Amino acid sequence: MDMASCQAGTQPTVLVIDDEAGPRDALKTILRTFCNVRSAENAKTALDVLNQDPIDLITLDQKLPDRHGLDLLRDIKHRHPDVEVIIVTGYGSLKSAMEGIRHGAAGYLLKPFNVNELTTLIQQTMDKKRRLDFLRHSLRTLPDLWGSEEESARAWNKVKTGYASLSINAQGAVASQQDDMSLLPLLSDILEATDRQLLNHSSRVSFYATLMASRLNLTASEQKSLALGAFLHDLGKTSLPSYRFSEDQVLPSGEASLCREHSDRGARMIAPLGLPIEVGQIVASHHERWDGQGYPRGLRGTDIPFLARIVGIAQTFDHLTADVPGRVALPLDAATRQISLQSETHFDPLLLEFFIQVVKDSPVSTPAMDIAPAA
Ligand SMILES: [Fe+2]
Repeated sequence: MDMASCQAGTQPTVLVIDDEAGPRDALKTILRTFCNVRSAENAKTALDVLNQDPIDLITLDQKLPDRHGLDLLRDIKHRHPDVEVIIVTGYGSLKSAMEGIRHGAAGYLLKPFNVNELTTLIQQTMDKKRRLDFLRHSLRTLPDLWGSEEESARAWNKVKTGYASLSINAQGAVASQQDDMSLLPLLSDILEATDRQLLNHSSRVSFYATLMASRLNLTASEQKSLALGAFLHDLGKTSLPSYRFSEDQVLPSGEASLCREHSDRGARMIAPLGLPIEVGQIVASHHERWDGQGYPRGLRGTDIPFLARIVGIAQTFDHLTADVPGRVALPLDAATRQISLQSETHFDPLLLEFFIQVVKDSPVSTPAMDIAPAA
């Protein structure tokens, strides 16, 4: 990604992929008013254009002569993960559009489209892409973010300033008041800049932790720290070059094995942000095990901070159940059976029993379960 297109105000280049001349020409006419436009009438030509020219955004028709649109989407997101894709569908099918979102599309548009909706969606997607490109560049060039507290504080100041300048008038703007939640849009975008699936994982783990929080007698500030710490537990993975959530190997126990250092790096990243101390404890200790065999410090039993024990269970449960491309998702019963095998080795037995009860009793379907087959 060249940094020229990170600058707000630079005209983005959009690739219109559609085999029908009518909608393709209509899209090109509308988009030319504020974008550079390329077009392709089939998947092969589209991939050729992508390999030759820097493309920021794609509008992708679902029905192509040589390949199904979703199949091409998977390929594009694998080879060009930073290119944003908007699905254009003539079927009016929410299911296929949702499938596209699951595979990393930024949004979808139903044909026949409304010009205002189209231009708003393209502009919002490009605004977001500029923020994500800036953050990807920052993560590559500012290793001080996970350095000493002083180095990290300086690096965060650069990131916050650049991000704020790209967020003017956007919903993701950094709030002027510095409370714990004002950094959330930036931290959320950092997770998404690394991998949209990592952000989804983080959101689901926070959801599960919040389910637990509402059933445990936690104070309001503990509940807030738990939700925030669960959301940020894998922040350290944003420091890993070319990290892909789908390639994050999951051990039979459901434990992610990739780069053990991510716990410490994540804790160093949030150290200068002024968040509650419990948030840092969760990030640092969510891979510790009840039997002392975890990492990074080999803490044992109740020496592991209580909120980190909850997040350790929640993140493992999500690794088992998440319906992520390239992974096999377990249905609820199979996942709870598997995670139960780790009681007293990986997890606090009482907390695990409670967690399983809470997800089984949850009145709403848990977010990872909505596409998974019934047990
Ligand atoms: Fe982790």
